[in-house]
Amino acid sequence: MCGIVGYLGTLKAAPVLLSELRCLEYRGYDSAGVAVIEDGQLAVLKAVGKLSNLETLLSDVQPRATVGIGHTRWATHGVPNDENAHPHLDCTSTLAIVHNGIIENYVELREELMEAGHQFRSETDTEVVAHLIEDELKEDPDDLLTGIRRALHRLKGAYALGIVSQRHPDKIFAVNHHYSLAVGIGVNETFLASDSVAVCQYTNQVLRLEQSEIAEITTAGARLFSFAGVEVKRNPVELENKQFVLDKQGHKHFLLKEIHEQPLVLRRTIGKYLLHPGKKINFAGSSAHGNYGVHLSDAELARIDRIKIVACGTAYHAGLVGKYIIEELCGIPVDVETASEARTRRLLVDNRTLAVAVSQSGETADTLAAIGEAKNRGAIILGITNRPDSHLSLVCPNLLVTECGLEVSVAATKTFTAQVACFYLLALYLAERKNLLPEDRIFALKAELLRTPALIERILANQDDIREKSIQYSDAPGMMFIGRGIHYPVALEGALKLKELSYIHASGYAAGELKHGPIAVLDERVPVVALTIPGTVYEKTLSNAQEAKARRARMITVAVEGDELVRKTFETVFTIPPVSEFFSPLISVVPLQLMSAFIADHLGKDVDQPRNLAKSVTVE
Ligand code: AGP
Repeated sequence: MCGIVGYLGTLKAAPVLLSELRCLEYRGYDSAGVAVIEDGQLAVLKAVGKLSNLETLLSDVQPRATVGIGHTRWATHGVPNDENAHPHLDCTSTLAIVHNGIIENYVELREELMEAGHQFRSETDTEVVAHLIEDELKEDPDDLLTGIRRALHRLKGAYALGIVSQRHPDKIFAVNHHYSLAVGIGVNETFLASDSVAVCQYTNQVLRLEQSEIAEITTAGARLFSFAGVEVKRNPVELENKQFVLDKQGHKHFLLKEIHEQPLVLRRTIGKYLLHPGKKINFAGSSAHGNYGVHLSDAELARIDRIKIVACGTAYHAGLVGKYIIEELCGIPVDVETASEARTRRLLVDNRTLAVAVSQSGETADTLAAIGEAKNRGAIILGITNRPDSHLSLVCPNLLVTECGLEVSVAATKTFTAQVACFYLLALYLAERKNLLPEDRIFALKAELLRTPALIERILANQDDIREKSIQYSDAPGMMFIGRGIHYPVALEGALKLKELSYIHASGYAAGELKHGPIAVLDERVPVVALTIPGTVYEKTLSNAQEAKARRARMITVAVEGDELVRKTFETVFTIPPVSEFFSPLISVVPLQLMSAFIADHLGKDVDQPRNLAKSVTVE
């Protein structure tokens, strides 16, 4: 996801912009740039690659410039290079723009503008907006707000924009249309960012742009306008003062730090809603961004007769685990779909459907579109996110927030287990509120859920052994992950982790599917990872593993301590503490996370920012 920042105040702008961009670096990017105004002159500097390349250019730029915008780009239209990096300029090079999102009708607009004589410098969709504003300013060059508004009416797509003009050196304009933008309000200085983590190093007073709003930003603060030009009054909110700390806490990678944070994250997330097995689950809550929590009425709860989960990537895998959990405890049919697919079809939901969107960032375009469609069709809406200040939090009247802290590494780990924990909590909440289970069963389930963080700690204490066992598979041409029942989504998640971290192709399959085709790829080069946890599918999974072993595959398993049977089948055993099949996904995923992290590190990959990936995919 691209990052947008801005600064207006008394400090030298370039270092502030760079510092804000560093806070967004974790989201993945391939080029960066800034535009600053000094003595009425606009200067644009940009560089492909890491921020350090841009920093080199900025060292002595425009020392008196105290206003500017900046951007980290994750390429969508046009290859990563200096020309395609943002900011982009109009023909007169007096107006600069940075952009997050996609302008869907940019081709026709570009042609129209080129016919009108505009000269383009890049291959991007973004540059069209700069020339469009220039075109709309012809009537009144000084009324930039009107020029912007007119240009917006000609755009199609979802976007966030930052704009500066040397005709207005004391202002920044920002536009939000189905994205996220926050204005940080300081004392005689103002900040802009597409993610509030970039401003909370300077101020905790934040004014969020909601959908289809324009902000006119000065050192005194920001005025908000609708696209129709009507002023909108809204007060800033106070962010909890969580300083965004770029600190690996002694770990080699943020990924390892975040894998190790999981016990703490689960204690915080579970404990936020469930204090004791004898207590009811309390989903009420509030945050700086207004009330979040689950506020399902008795009537809504009585009406719910099916659940639809929409999500992407790892969040989708958490949703698949959620299906097993909710169907097992509540007997309510659950349908899980990747959001990108759910939005392409006729979504069969209604006011008896609880539609659940799962997204750690709360900014994933496909997930936002899918849950928006479900809302339009009358479904009861609930979100699970790690970011109460995200776009998702604005569209979900019921919101469960995971207490992960910022997840910096692009590969999701702690947010996965926290999302799964929220599904256990949601299932128990529904079972309680709809009287679906006896009290003693609910008590026992809550007690076991509360014990899971300690089980993860026992695995993490054993990570050196896991590392030694893992790196021997770094030369694998590919890898297969198999599981049955509630273990199947964990197999999918294990395969995704290996792919996105080590770039080794990996597939996750329902173990019973192996003999229906996938087994053809197996031979002595290919490792197969099987989840063999005691429970209803243990024996069948073992026999599926035997089928793979018979093809001379290199057999790896995640099994519980003391299980000697598996040692007859598997050359490598990652052990986990004894845990029920039902709660095992929270535990069995951890060795798979560590295995992929160690293989990727052993191969010298960019573990925290894998190639081609962004932390939040805000484009469709
Ligand atoms: C997972 O490791 C990936 N980073 C990716 O699949 C991610 O889970 C997906 O893009 C969804 O992101 P979200 O949770 O922010 O919506």
